[in-house]
Amino acid sequence: MKGKNYQILVVDDDLGMCQMLSEVLGEEGFSVSTTSESLEASKLLKREEFDVLITDLKMKGLKGLDLLDEANRVAPLTPVIIITAFGTIESAIKAMKMGAYDYITKPFQMDELLLTVRKALETRLLKKEVIRLKKEVESRYDFHQLIGKSPAMQKIYDMIERISDSSSSVLITGESGTGKELVAKAVHYSGCRKAGPFIAVNCAAIPETLLESELFGYKKGAFTDARSDKKGLFVEAHEGTLFLDEVTEMALTLQAKLLRAIEDREIRPLGDTHSYPIEVRIISTSNRDIEMAIKQGRFREDLYYRLKVIDIEMPPLRERREDVPMLIQHFIAKFGSESKKNISGISENALKLLLNYSWPGNVRELENVIQRAIALGQQEVILPDDLPASMIQKTDERLFERAMDEKFTLDQLEKEYIKRVLTEAGGNKSKAAERLGLDRKTLYRKLEEM
Ligand SMILES: Nc1ncnc2c1ncn2[C@@H]1O[C@H](COP(=O)(O)OP(=O)(O)OP(=O)(O)O)[C@@H](O)[C@H]1O
Ligand SMILES: [Mg+2]
Repeated sequence: MKGKNYQILVVDDDLGMCQMLSEVLGEEGFSVSTTSESLEASKLLKREEFDVLITDLKMKGLKGLDLLDEANRVAPLTPVIIITAFGTIESAIKAMKMGAYDYITKPFQMDELLLTVRKALETRLLKKEVIRLKKEVESRYDFHQLIGKSPAMQKIYDMIERISDSSSSVLITGESGTGKELVAKAVHYSGCRKAGPFIAVNCAAIPETLLESELFGYKKGAFTDARSDKKGLFVEAHEGTLFLDEVTEMALTLQAKLLRAIEDREIRPLGDTHSYPIEVRIISTSNRDIEMAIKQGRFREDLYYRLKVIDIEMPPLRERREDVPMLIQHFIAKFGSESKKNISGISENALKLLLNYSWPGNVRELENVIQRAIALGQQEVILPDDLPASMIQKTDERLFERAMDEKFTLDQLEKEYIKRVLTEAGGNKSKAAERLGLDRKTLYRKLEEM
């Protein structure tokens, strides 16, 4: 355990002792700071990270025990070695009880001190390793049915935890199949509203007039078919969550009513003369470019801001490929047990294909691919043959090899590359331009020339 990598702080009001320790430890290659002022030491501890602290017990100013206390608080991983004169053994024992690493009594042999320092360093390294491992174990790969261990998913989990107890509106955006609905449910079921209902409405699937009466309810006789009063979903979701899936598909007239309901925190059913207070949290989703929809006048900007008090952007699967193996295992377990087939894994080649694929349909597409592979599979593991043919071709196509085989010109290679990057970017030209290191205009020009 040599080397300047280790920082040792020596505190003793006996300057001679400081100097001697500094020399001996310095010769062993440690980098040593010394101070005879325990108050100064306390400041140093806050400012720098030391690997070992060696301190005298009896000092002016801050006493050794106080410094130990301070070190425990500001640098809990730094072992503290107490130097004590023979007569103060009792305080040394007290120091041990307070968490000192060890003590040595004056006068001592330098070898004895060095041995203690080395053991202290080892302990510190072990403690650090334990903390690192603990963190790794704690990093979740499964959170309310969401699978994924990537940093991007960890951020999503943290976000969900942070916001689950609030009532602010949440807007979840992201490409199709990225898990927006799962996240909405996780927000609901991990928070204080979990005892309340989670009511989902797909705004894209229901015609405008029906959606209005679904959301706000109606009085008997409000229109021909209204034979009795109907509670709206806003009322049904009382003290729970109203999940407005694909909210950008909502008609403009209804958007205005939704905005009013959110602002006034009350709704008026069709044909009713009264308004009723509502207490719901709204979580909505969109998989299209909302800002574009606003620019084109298809979505109200004021409503947008009301809905996205908190926004969560789901990362596409191709940007967190490290989650693919885990998701595969998850879906194999799910569909394997449903189909009663004994498929327990995936072959290396098949896995490679899946890892290289760009997943435009995200997790949903992966789920379908595995479901299909299990239905078709006849071996214990999923083989490339069990995967969709289109996928095998697409991913197997090594652009560079093909370019060499078919003797591409540089121009052809560039075009193919641009096409691939554009596909990977889900057709998003700004993103593709950024990846290619081009400005948008240049990319547009190149696309026009294709
Ligand atoms: N992280 C994940 N872990 C496990 N399953 C997931 C994950 N993300 C998505 N899925 C699964 O993928 C499918 C699609 O997820 P979900 O319906 O939540 O996506 P979405 O973003 O709402 O898609 P769309 O925009 O098309 O409605 C579901 O079957 C869901 O269970
Ligand atoms: Mg959805």
